[in-house]
Amino acid sequence: MKVLIVGGGGREHAIAWKLAQSRRVGEIVCAPGNAGIEQIARCVPVAAEDIEGLTALAKAEQPGLTVIGPETPLAEGLTDAIEALGLKVFGPDKSCARLEASKSFTKAFLARHGIPTAGYREYTDIESLKADIGVFGFPMVLKADGLAAGKGVIIAEDRAAAESAADELMGLRTFGAAGDKVVVEEFLRGTEASMLCFVDGGAIVPMESAQDYKRIYDGDKGPNTGGMGAYSPSLLFDAAMERRVRECILLPTLAGFKADGLDFKGVLFIGLMLTDEGPKVIEFNNRFGDPETQAVLPRLKTDLAEIMLSALENNLSRTVIEWDGGVRTVCVVMAAGGYPGAYRKGDVITGLRDVPADIRVFHAGTGKNENGDIVTAGGRVLGVLGQGRTHEEARARAYEGAARISFAGAVYREDIGVVYSGFPHSRE
Ligand code: AMP
Ligand code: GLY
Repeated sequence: MKVLIVGGGGREHAIAWKLAQSRRVGEIVCAPGNAGIEQIARCVPVAAEDIEGLTALAKAEQPGLTVIGPETPLAEGLTDAIEALGLKVFGPDKSCARLEASKSFTKAFLARHGIPTAGYREYTDIESLKADIGVFGFPMVLKADGLAAGKGVIIAEDRAAAESAADELMGLRTFGAAGDKVVVEEFLRGTEASMLCFVDGGAIVPMESAQDYKRIYDGDKGPNTGGMGAYSPSLLFDAAMERRVRECILLPTLAGFKADGLDFKGVLFIGLMLTDEGPKVIEFNNRFGDPETQAVLPRLKTDLAEIMLSALENNLSRTVIEWDGGVRTVCVVMAAGGYPGAYRKGDVITGLRDVPADIRVFHAGTGKNENGDIVTAGGRVLGVLGQGRTHEEARARAYEGAARISFAGAVYREDIGVVYSGFPHSRE
């Protein structure tokens, strides 16, 4: 079977690498891919946002399965467009993609189905928003309703910060139409965790847990990024917490999809806050997380293509999904200097061949220059994955790999995998 993968980041490299091991997969085509994906797939220069171009590509290639990595093409209906060609797509359709593309849609879904989440209000004009500043006290959480590449959430510590957040979102329209509606939420205190689940009409199956590190600097300081590293399994999920998440969040979510006629097929990524009152949903994403996927998929024993195909047939509940419980992973992201702001591009990456074989390097923002050298081409450049029998061993291997690789301006956190007293994302 031929598989088409849409996207070109570390997540897509991990998906391509895993699918390449499938006994069902013969050829992989990736749009647009990157310099690492190119080593295992045929890359085609069609951007992940180019819905028409991707639809035409699917029509020409006739893949047996298309897997969509990033949120934007999902929100814009790429699944629907490719399904209309009579082809199979793993990834939610446009109506389900609202679960990530509109925070207001998701908050209404959670409220309607009694799923624990922060209290909220929504605003479509700046005057009413400003009149309500401090409605849930401070810090005040303000969110652009639409997609904003993970940057549309502002946590304002006081009234002045909230005023300027309101101006930024609705006055200056920093995030464009994404800020036409603003959701204000109660501030939740606790520890964050990511849970990725395979979903079809009859089942919601959590993958092994993972922990993401969102901030740019060590000690969880500085601005938010797409994610600077991850490890799996999470050290804060015990069996009791898993049971609670299943009962209070997963099962009501699946029932909610059914009740609302949402035929979700793909990966649901649940951002959780583990609070004193129990786990609460911070957000839904409707795709694999990046870099959580790079830490989680190497621990998957079951054929990934089989799982995806079974979800498309509503067969997940009858599919056995196995994980390698004896393996721990830590993925360290190497980013370009300046990220998450404006960053350098085109710097030659050296040392990739010196990385020991047990350490896997997933490419994210990489490309080739005219000499054929692998160069930086994005904010997050590489994900270096260490694996081991213990968490500490996996962590040591990841840093051993990162130390072998260099490019001008490279930055990475030294504390990926460190569990602080409290937890990495504790806000107390
Ligand atoms: P989101 O894009 O909705 O996941 O928000 C980005 C980040 O903002 C989250 O990962 C949390 O760290 C933080 N955040 C979002 N909503 C809340 C909330 N209601 N209370 C506390 N922190 C939040
Ligand atoms: N690592 C967070 C995300 O993929 O959105």
